[in-house]
Amino acid sequence: MERRRLLACVIVICLISLCVARELNVKSKYALPAIYNHTLATILVEYSSAVYMSDLTELFTWTCERCNGLTKGFEMIELIVDVQACLQAFVGVAKDLDAIVIAFRGTQESSIQNWIEDLYWKQLDCNYPGTSDAMVHHGFYSAYHNTTVRPGILSAVKSARELYGDLQIMVTGHSMGGAMAAFCGLDLRVNFGVHNVQVMTFGQPRIGNAAFATYYSKLVPFTTRVTNEHDMVPHLPPYFYLFPGKTYHHFPREVWLHNLGFGTLVYQIETVCDSSGEDPTCSRSVSGNSIADHLTYYGVEMGCDAEVACKMVMHPALAAYSKTDEAGNFVLSRDGAISVLRINRESDAQSTTS
Ligand SMILES: *[C@@H]1O[C@H](CO)[C@@H](O)[C@H](O)[C@H]1NC(C)=O
Ligand SMILES: *[C@@H]1O[C@H](CO)[C@@H](O)[C@H](O)[C@H]1NC(C)=O
Repeated sequence: MERRRLLACVIVICLISLCVARELNVKSKYALPAIYNHTLATILVEYSSAVYMSDLTELFTWTCERCNGLTKGFEMIELIVDVQACLQAFVGVAKDLDAIVIAFRGTQESSIQNWIEDLYWKQLDCNYPGTSDAMVHHGFYSAYHNTTVRPGILSAVKSARELYGDLQIMVTGHSMGGAMAAFCGLDLRVNFGVHNVQVMTFGQPRIGNAAFATYYSKLVPFTTRVTNEHDMVPHLPPYFYLFPGKTYHHFPREVWLHNLGFGTLVYQIETVCDSSGEDPTCSRSVSGNSIADHLTYYGVEMGCDAEVACKMVMHPALAAYSKTDEAGNFVLSRDGAISVLRINRESDAQSTTS
């Protein structure tokens, strides 16, 4: 009797462990990342930096000065430019990461100072669709959802998947571009059932309330929100800790970069913060009073290369092969454009040498 019971027990335990093992197998199909991967961060930050470049020919052909380094060999699929809203984003394939990379440019206003000051007054004024109490700021929300950016991204992801299969998707961006990256990751997960999506943002502002943060982090758990030292932007719009239910609230998981040291011995520390999104021992433990800290992440220069707002430069041959709508917004796609450009480059070279 005892022995039989013991046997039954053993069988049950075996079955359970088999189930667990199978579940683990399923989970590891996409080789999901550890909580924080420093190497990956140093690569994605270069994509977030490159998307700011104003010379679209160099950006599209991945020959810009911010396009070498750790992102060499990137294959651009589509470059999307919303001229009206002054937005820029691209989609392509990074073979070394085995991933589709989507990057969003941050704000390109002539004065980043003004843009940051405006962040103080952003209201939570838009209900995130399909949720009961998740609120976001409509400006951030519509920069992604109500411009030519979203359809451009979605069609590029579709072509990338047709060309390369079911690769994982990494969405990244700096500042306002980080806010758009978060909305994009969530959109891919919620509306297109993409499970293997991860988001990594740099110096991103808060975009919604606590209910939104909870909703977001359940659906896009592989999210890293990197903050740097005293960078102002992650402190905005403000978090009022007396009204945690009514105020803006960050989603997890923050990784706070900061220096620790005395005199000539300075160490860069990367603190992986708690799962609350508002870890009081991370960037919230210091005051957000620096724009300089907003403009450099991992030693990489972020922000625009041109002083003029919405400046862009493009080879006329490339323009001819872009899809442009009546408002002047356009998408450059790989199909056609690259070969046309190459031919033009060759004839340019010939005409200068002859
Ligand atoms: C971190 O990311 C790099 C680049 O994608 C990858 O090669 C490495 O395996 C990752 N490490 C872990 C522990 O996931
Ligand atoms: C979307 O954009 C259009 C035109 O830019 C604007 O009229 C409309 O109010 C916007 N809708 C939302 C929900 O922001």
